[in-house]
Amino acid sequence: MPVGKRLSCWRHAHSRRLEWAWHPELVQVLTLNTHGTALISWATRAFFGIVEGVDGCRTGAIVKKKELLYEGKAKRVYATEVDGVLIQEFKDDATAFDGAKKGQIGQKGVINNQMAAKLFQLLEKHNIRTHFVELVSEREMGIRALKMFKVEAIVRNVAAGGLVKNYGFTRGQRFERPIFEFHLKDDQYHDPLMNNEQIIALGLATAEDLKLIESRARHVNQVLKEFFGNIGIDLVDFKLEFGRGLDGEIYIGDEISPDSCRFWDKQTGESVDKDRFRFDMGKVEEAYSDIFQRVMTAN
Ligand SMILES: Nc1ncnc2c1ncn2[C@@H]1O[C@H](COP(=O)(O)OP(=O)(O)OP(=O)(O)O)[C@@H](O)[C@H]1O
Ligand SMILES: [Mg+2]
Repeated sequence: MPVGKRLSCWRHAHSRRLEWAWHPELVQVLTLNTHGTALISWATRAFFGIVEGVDGCRTGAIVKKKELLYEGKAKRVYATEVDGVLIQEFKDDATAFDGAKKGQIGQKGVINNQMAAKLFQLLEKHNIRTHFVELVSEREMGIRALKMFKVEAIVRNVAAGGLVKNYGFTRGQRFERPIFEFHLKDDQYHDPLMNNEQIIALGLATAEDLKLIESRARHVNQVLKEFFGNIGIDLVDFKLEFGRGLDGEIYIGDEISPDSCRFWDKQTGESVDKDRFRFDMGKVEEAYSDIFQRVMTAN
């Protein structure tokens, strides 16, 4: 393939996508959404090879949605016509306390999708593998299909939430060494804290997997803490989900958004995240919109 050859120009209701192959092994994808935000992502041809069609790199295939595979509380996951690639669609539905509290947050799906896309691309720049493939529309992203671990990884920089409620920490206490926790991903048992031996005994992961997940999550914390610090936000804590790809590698899946992180404004100390919905603090939509603006305009 000639270097720098434009592969295609693909339009969608919400975005416009251009693709180039600058290098025989790398494909660059530029997505422009209706807000004029440009997102540039890179993938190896081997990765896009799974969308390889008639003559070389067939594009657009990746975005064709097929059957609904799973509907969760906040997202729907669809198959695509491409093996190994799924579409994750973000809803405005919000839940808290393991689904006991239900509601809607206007535009949440749009915000979480695009914010997660930007943060996944930031992590990729730091050589942290994520499932992100590309933005498909305002509410949808193409993702690498993963077999998810049934555990959640939590990193805490400041005491809040469960640490205060269940262990008597003082809200706002800062940890010199961030606290890492594994929790079982199961609403039925209320996502309890688990130690590595319990996880291994339940057959949910190996000791090696758990070691890798913890070090990856701590690395993510360093990157995100700095990023959010620069936009006036204290990253209090966050949850990550990991899974294994068809290539056997471990990737970060799911989302990174105000649903999965605690963000405190550095100046006012106010929550700019889902806690506003959880605890009926008001100005929920304003908070999502505020954090979205800050993230999307950050360098
Ligand atoms: N790359 C991926 N491949 C396959 N599944 C994924 C991937 N990323 C996330 N998932 C899964 O897709 C689902 C997303 O839906 P959502 O977050 O709404 O679920 P949920 O209501 O939180 O329920 P639960 O996470 O308990 O299944 C989750 O089950 C999540 O673990
Ligand atoms: Mg979820």
